[in-house]
Amino acid sequence: MSLPLIRFAAGLAYREAGAGRPMLLLHAFPLSSAMWEPQFVSLGQVARILAPDLPGFGGSPLANPPWTLDSLADQLVQFLDDVHVQEPVVVVGLSMGGYLAMAMARRHAQRLAGLVLADTKAEPDDTDARTNRDRLIRVAQEHGVSAIVEAMLPKMTAPITQRTRPGVLDQLREMASGQSVAGVTAALAALRDRPDARPGLAEITLPTRVIVGASDLITPPDVAHRMAEAIPKCTLIDILGAGHMSNLERPDEFNAAVRSFLAVLQSTP
Ligand code: MLT
Repeated sequence: MSLPLIRFAAGLAYREAGAGRPMLLLHAFPLSSAMWEPQFVSLGQVARILAPDLPGFGGSPLANPPWTLDSLADQLVQFLDDVHVQEPVVVVGLSMGGYLAMAMARRHAQRLAGLVLADTKAEPDDTDARTNRDRLIRVAQEHGVSAIVEAMLPKMTAPITQRTRPGVLDQLREMASGQSVAGVTAALAALRDRPDARPGLAEITLPTRVIVGASDLITPPDVAHRMAEAIPKCTLIDILGAGHMSNLERPDEFNAAVRSFLAVLQSTP
């Protein structure tokens, strides 16, 4: 794996690549900025890529007090200040990263130029999902992070990825099982308690692109399509042959979807 070096700003480790319009890449659970490996070169040709490790993941310390979607959205704005980004940024978030991108759009829309919401959803956890988060917290505490990673892995990628690109699963397993119990359990609590983003969707005035793997089992296409319909200036791209980790499973299609969105943003005054 070839990755940009880790740097630090605003209490977060991050990786940076490329030059041009700033683009913030927000990773999924329970991963790190390393999941953007197939994006650094391609997107770095058209943008200045900033990819933080969220608190307690990768090289970033735990947040104290524990983070919430809203507190982390504020910390990410501090991060942008510390890396001297004042120009509005394009935020690309996948799954948990998408929840955060929506929190940034709710709280700091003036700092954003556009949103890419990949394999994510606006719905909060229902009662069963909240109970499952609590169960996963106990599993991680009693049996370690690997136990929850093995339970998650089969759902994270499309069957075709599992058959033809087993290296993607190895990469996910390595990245996820290297995370700490404290980081993972803090994130599970933040995800469990996240607000319902649906009421705010109609208020998003930023150009937005929704991307979803056509075989995503965790945030399925019908859920992504509903979200896209509720956002006024939104375009939608389904990626065939991808599951939940569309950026890793179909990097060329994912990169093309982000690059074409950027091109539209650049051509619009
Ligand atoms: C993710 O990929 O970030 C997670 O599946 C999000 C979640 O568990 O809600």
